Amino acid sequence: MGVIASAPAKIILFGEHFVVYGEPAIVLAIDKRAYASADIREDKRIYINSVELGISGFFEGKKFHEERGGQIAHKTLEPLNIAIQKVLDRSEKSVGVSVKVRSAIPVAAGLGSSAAVAAAVATAVGRLLNLELSKEEIFRISYEAEHLVHGTPSGIDPTISTYGGVLLYRKDKGFAEIKVKGEIPLVIGDTGVKRLTGDLVATVRKRSKQYPSIIKPLLKVGGKIALKAVEALETGDLYALGELMNINHGLLCAVGVSDVSLERLVYAARGADALGAKLTGAGGGGCMIALAKSNKLVQVVDAIERVGGRAFVAGMADEGVMIES
Ligand code: PMV
Repeated sequence: MGVIASAPAKIILFGEHFVVYGEPAIVLAIDKRAYASADIREDKRIYINSVELGISGFFEGKKFHEERGGQIAHKTLEPLNIAIQKVLDRSEKSVGVSVKVRSAIPVAAGLGSSAAVAAAVATAVGRLLNLELSKEEIFRISYEAEHLVHGTPSGIDPTISTYGGVLLYRKDKGFAEIKVKGEIPLVIGDTGVKRLTGDLVATVRKRSKQYPSIIKPLLKVGGKIALKAVEALETGDLYALGELMNINHGLLCAVGVSDVSLERLVYAARGADALGAKLTGAGGGGCMIALAKSNKLVQVVDAIERVGGRAFVAGMADEGVMIES
């Protein structure tokens, strides 16, 4: 019998990039999930089929055999192969595994799709092999898989995909759950511009080396905004939250990670009465988020779509990675 597991996508509400330098960030799991189903194979191969990406192939020892997806197939599937290998090593079983990935999460858009997929895959394969993997172990495995995708990950994506909820996250210090008062009505706008997180992290590093006396204080202010936002979340103060999002976006522009595609969507949302709007994740394209009163959500979605973005209303997800069946 096969096993199905799922894990949520995420948005970074506050503190992306600054988190790479040890500042606190706030991350929230959303109700879009990646699903992985795992089955035992008769042979020793690791076969992976990523349905939405149209990529599939199998690993046999160190060799990769592409079935679909062309040149990017190997690079795209390798992190999942690593996650599966780690689970196999932990089980000490010498078996083959077939994994099918289905995901409703836009790729390379700042929503943590790769970490969600890795967490779902590790969990499904773990259960298939009768392992009781702890959340800490699932986090570690997804973190190592993500290491391959971009160079210096803060660990925020695998943490939220594993644990879910709304978290205050600090690199090397771990996370604390934030008890949010009420709802956080959010719209996500996707510019459709794909980018690599590692490139944007490198942009900030370069700017920070070039102008340390200017950029380093900005990184610290980023951390202060996140801490102030915790208070706003705990008291349900949406107005303060919106203002803090706008300030945070300004800082992200200053460190060099916004672009015209994001600005267009951010200003469209603000023009449609959003309480605040900012880019989310690495920037340079990808997604932005807007906070709006519940009765204004549709109007914000429309405004973002009118300027060429793809927009949807996002709900919070309390559940992190979990077994579906
Ligand atoms: O765009 P994403 O989902 O890859 O998020 C990146 C968040 C950064 O802070 C820019 C990098 C990191 O590892 O935290």
